[in-house]
Parts: sequence; structure tokens; C-alpha cells
Amino acid sequence: MAVAVYPGSFDPVTLGHQDIIERSSKIMDRVIVGVLKNNSKSPLFSVQERVNMLKSVTGHLPNIEILAFDGLLVDFVRNCQADVIVRGLRAITDFEYELQMSQTNRVISPGIDTIFLTTNLKYSYLSSSIVKEIAMYQGDISAFVAPEIAVKVLRRAADVKNKRPS
Ligand code: COA
Repeated sequence: MAVAVYPGSFDPVTLGHQDIIERSSKIMDRVIVGVLKNNSKSPLFSVQERVNMLKSVTGHLPNIEILAFDGLLVDFVRNCQADVIVRGLRAITDFEYELQMSQTNRVISPGIDTIFLTTNLKYSYLSSSIVKEIAMYQGDISAFVAPEIAVKVLRRAADVKNKRPS
């Protein structure tokens, strides 16, 4: 059985991420979306909130599971009894970082391979940070995230902005 892990921060999950999840669910028997807990980025949403958001947008896909993880990706992949990591490539600028990561992971865990899916062109410019930046100004993010995610992001962005000293 082909089991893959699709790791990331997902703060928040975007339509670009959803596209990769849907496409990998067709290629693999089972896909575990790994939500990184200890992030060097300071997330807008807690790991549990990010897990819940991913669950709400992938509920229609029977072979997708959402789990939080901490520590090394390769350890998580092994614990999941998976052998493949899935990553999306948006543009050539992603390539250098992704290559470095996949080569390093293969050196520390030779049995684990990374496969890359090219991100749908519609979402090749998209990132979670861009979505959050637009949301901070209460802009329209409906082209970038699912409707239920947009509501949560706009609400959280407004809360964060109200708490900031003026
Ligand atoms: N569509 C839209 N946006 C996408 C995307 C897609 N298909 N694919 C990636 N992105 C965006 C994300 O939204 C994110 O945007 P942001 O920087 O504005 O938040 C950015 O691209 C990259 O994020 P992501 O794909 O979530 O990866 P990451 O860099 O946050 O985390 C891990 C990557 C989790 C795989 C890596 O940090 C990791 O493995 N950590 C565990 C520790 C470890 O093992 N380290 C050794 C690695 S060699």
C-alpha cells in the first residue's frame, strides 16, 4: 500500500494546498497531512485549529488523514509507516529549498523518497503569508481559501489587529 505524508505549516490551509491534497489522494492509497507543531514562524492559528481547518476542507476525501507532528519530518514519516513525502512546487524559487530538504531527508533516512507535484498555475503565486496579509486589512481572500477558512482567517486577523497597540 502506498502511503504518503504531505507536511507543512498550513497557517492557514489555502486552495493551493487543497489542490495538492486532492491530487495526491488520487495517486496514493493513503495520504497523511502532517501539520508542523513547533514552527519557527509565529502562527496565526494553533496547531489544533490548523488540524481542524484541514479536516473541514478534506472531509470528502476518504483516504486523507490529518495529524499534527513535532520534531523531524523523517521520524514522523516512519511513525506513520509511510515511505513517501509529497511536496508542492509553486515556482522555480521553491526548487532550491525543496531540493536541499529532500536530499537531506534522504541522507538521514535513505528509505524515504520525496515526490513533487507542480502546483496548479492558478495558485503558483499563493502563500499563507499573502492570505494573512490581505486578511489583516479585511481584504477579499475568497479566491485563495475555502469559504469556511476565509471566515476564520478574517475573524482572527481582526482580533489580532484590535489587540495591537496603535
Ligand atoms: N499552494 C499554496 N501555497 C503553498 C503551496 C501550495 N501548493 N505549497 C506551499 N505553499 C506555501 C505555504 O503556504 C507557505 O507559505 P508561508 O511561508 O507564507 O507560510 C510556504 O509555501 C511554505 O510552507 P510549507 O509548505 O507549509 O512548508 P514549511 O516551509 O512551513 O514547512 C516542512 C516545511 C514542515 C516540511 C519542514 O519545515 C520540516 O520538515 N520541518 C520538520 C523539521 C525537519 O525535519 N527538518 C529537517 C528538514 S531537512
